[in-house]
Amino acid sequence: MPDALADVREWAGQPVTETPIKGGLSHRIARLDTADGQRWLLRVLDPRVSQAGLGIPIDQEIANTLRAARAGVGPRVLHRMPGALLLEYLDGATLDAHDVRTLPGPIAAACRRLHAGPRFVNDFSIFRKLDEFLALCHTHGLRVPDGYEDRLPAVARIERALAADPLPAVPCHNDLLPGNLIRCGTEIRIVDYQLSGNNDPAFELGDIAAEADYDPDLADRLTRAYFGEDDPRLTARVRLNLIMSNLTWSLWFAVHHGLLREQAAAADFDYDAEAADKFARAVRDLDDPGFGRLVDDVRGGRTPGSPDAPPPDGSPGHRTRPPM
Ligand SMILES: Nc1ncnc2c1ncn2[C@@H]1O[C@H](COP(=O)(O)OP(=O)(O)O)[C@@H](O)[C@H]1O
Ligand SMILES: [Mg+2]
Repeated sequence: MPDALADVREWAGQPVTETPIKGGLSHRIARLDTADGQRWLLRVLDPRVSQAGLGIPIDQEIANTLRAARAGVGPRVLHRMPGALLLEYLDGATLDAHDVRTLPGPIAAACRRLHAGPRFVNDFSIFRKLDEFLALCHTHGLRVPDGYEDRLPAVARIERALAADPLPAVPCHNDLLPGNLIRCGTEIRIVDYQLSGNNDPAFELGDIAAEADYDPDLADRLTRAYFGEDDPRLTARVRLNLIMSNLTWSLWFAVHHGLLREQAAAADFDYDAEAADKFARAVRDLDDPGFGRLVDDVRGGRTPGSPDAPPPDGSPGHRTRPPM
C-alpha cells in the first residue's frame, strides 16, 4: 500500500505527526498535526474490507465522501490519494448510544441535509446486502446466528410490504452507528461513507434507531422529526427497517469475524457476540405481537391480499412527497 503519510507530508510541504484514532472497526484512521498548527484526519482505506463485501468499492466510497462534503454534512475532502483521503478534522464530540438517544432532532436534521444533497454514485438495498452476506457465509462455511435462516420468510414479507408503496431513494449513509456521528456545536456531522448509497430514507432512520437501541416511541419521534408529520405508514416503515438493520448487520459481524480474522483480533472487539446480540434484537421485534400490524400499517392499512387498494384517506400516498 502506498505510504499515505509520506504523500501528505509532501503535499503539505512540512512535518506532520500522526496520532492513531481507535474507534472505527475497519480502517486506519489518524489525526494529523502539522508543524504550523493545522489538524487533519487521515483515512487509509483497507482494501480487504470492500473485497470481503463489507464495504462498497473504494472508488465509490471516495466519490460519495466528496458528495457528502458538498452536502455540507461530511467532512471536507482536502486531498485525495490512492486508497486514502485527507479530510477536514471535525473538532467535536463523537456520539455514543446515549447521546444518539437524546438527539433525535439534530440527527434527523443532519440526515435531511445529507439526503437533499448530490446523489451518490451507487444504489444500496439492505435486502440485497443481506442476500450477499448470506451467500458469503455459505460459500466460506461461516457460522450464522442459530435460527437465522428460519427468519428469511419474515424478511421476504418485510421486503414485499415496503415495496408496495416505496419512497424515492436518496443519498443515504446506511451505517449510522453512534461512532459515525460527530457533534460540532449544535450541528451533527457524519463521517465514514463505507456503506453509502442511494436508498430508502426510512432505512437510514431505522438503522440509527437500531444502532442506538431506540425504543419504539423514540423511533417514532425520530421519524416525526425527519418527515415533519405523524403518519403511521412512515413510523411502521422505519420500524421495519430497524429490524432489517439488526438482521443484516448481524451478518456483517459474522462475515467480518470469519473473513478478516487477523484484523478482527487486532481490533480487540467481540464480533461474534455483536452478531448474536443484533440477531437477538431482531428476533425480539419479529416475535412481538405488533409485528403484523407494522406490515399492515406500512401498506396504509391494506392487507397483503389487496395490494392495489388506495390509502384510507384517499390521498395518492406518501410516494409522491419528497422526504423533506
Ligand atoms: N473527519 C473527522 N474528524 C474528526 N474525527 C473523525 C473524523 N473521521 C473520523 N473521526 C473519528 O474516528 C473514528 C473512526 O473513524 P471512521 O471513519 O468511522 O472509521 P471506520 O471506518 O474504521 O469506522 C470516528 O468514530 C470518529 O471518532
Ligand atoms: Mg466508523
